Amino acid sequence: MNYNFPVTKTDNPKAKPNPDTLKFGAVFTDHMFIMEYTEGKGWHDGKIVPYGPLALEPATVVFHYAQEMFEGLKAYKTSEGKVLLFRPDMNAKRTNSTNERMCIPQLDEELFVEAVKAVVNVDKDWIPEKEGTSLYIRPFIIADEPFLGVRASNHYLFIVILCPVGPYYAGGLTPTKLLVEDEYVRAVPGGTGFAKVGGNYAAALKAQEKAHSKGCEQVLWLDGVERKYVEEIGTSNAFFKIDGEIVTAPLGGTILPGITRNSVIALLEKWGYKVSQKRLSIDDVFAAGKSGKLNEVFATGTAAVISPVGELTWKDQKIAINNGEIGELSQKLYDELYGIQTGKLEDTMGWTTEV
Ligand code: COI
Repeated sequence: MNYNFPVTKTDNPKAKPNPDTLKFGAVFTDHMFIMEYTEGKGWHDGKIVPYGPLALEPATVVFHYAQEMFEGLKAYKTSEGKVLLFRPDMNAKRTNSTNERMCIPQLDEELFVEAVKAVVNVDKDWIPEKEGTSLYIRPFIIADEPFLGVRASNHYLFIVILCPVGPYYAGGLTPTKLLVEDEYVRAVPGGTGFAKVGGNYAAALKAQEKAHSKGCEQVLWLDGVERKYVEEIGTSNAFFKIDGEIVTAPLGGTILPGITRNSVIALLEKWGYKVSQKRLSIDDVFAAGKSGKLNEVFATGTAAVISPVGELTWKDQKIAINNGEIGELSQKLYDELYGIQTGKLEDTMGWTTEV
């Protein structure tokens, strides 16, 4: 289908940021995509407009009851000047799984991808080309009906904003330190752990601040029932290489079904590694650490890409992983994924889509 979204260009284009000092999530491009949903009419009037503030009444549902969702994906420019998106169809599918949980109307998956492509195309000059940088794409939906009764909204906005970014962690591929969180929990069965909703992140801030106060960059979450099994790392999925086997928590409602997680599993299996999606207790992680069998730990995510972990702290115990250095497998996965994403390596998996 040909969507042909109308475009209103900004009269005041902004200066592009210096690619050498790009942080994550601080600078936004000149335009955004916006589309409305009205009960009885569906999604309508998708268009590209200058990036700018929204006018919302103080009674707007999202401010009070957090009925919203978001996604994250990236665009890259190849050395020939082509613009590539990495698996946007997966973000479209996950949007609908989140929407279903949050009583937000379904969004046509082709429409989602075309909206992303259209706004990226308008702002393609903002895609940074320096190694380790990309254009982060943040599609999101908010319930924007002004109404204080607790029920699903009957009006929504779907918006896509863009943000040239450097590495998510200031240290880039320098291994991070994690605090194993044994007080607060991120998700419980039946909750919203698998959905990409702001509430999950708001409820995690307290643990993140605690981790920072102890000199750690992020939290390693344990399951919310027994506080025994490893689940996620802050804003990403977690992988453990123990005695050659690679273990990650199974998707079962409390884990975010990461697109990078899915891609990493596919690559590892293609390379012939043993990958197990199974419950792994924190006792077993520390026992492996102490006996020298914990070879590597890394986080995967759109923002984090592959982010190696160098140290774990749990109660009064601390273990160093791979002497605090990036592991061979973490580096290999990063090189392969980033290579495919930026068009430097052949995309034999069919994961990239040209804008
Ligand atoms: C992403 O990796 O795209 C995320 O959504 C993580 C984000 C909260 C920084």
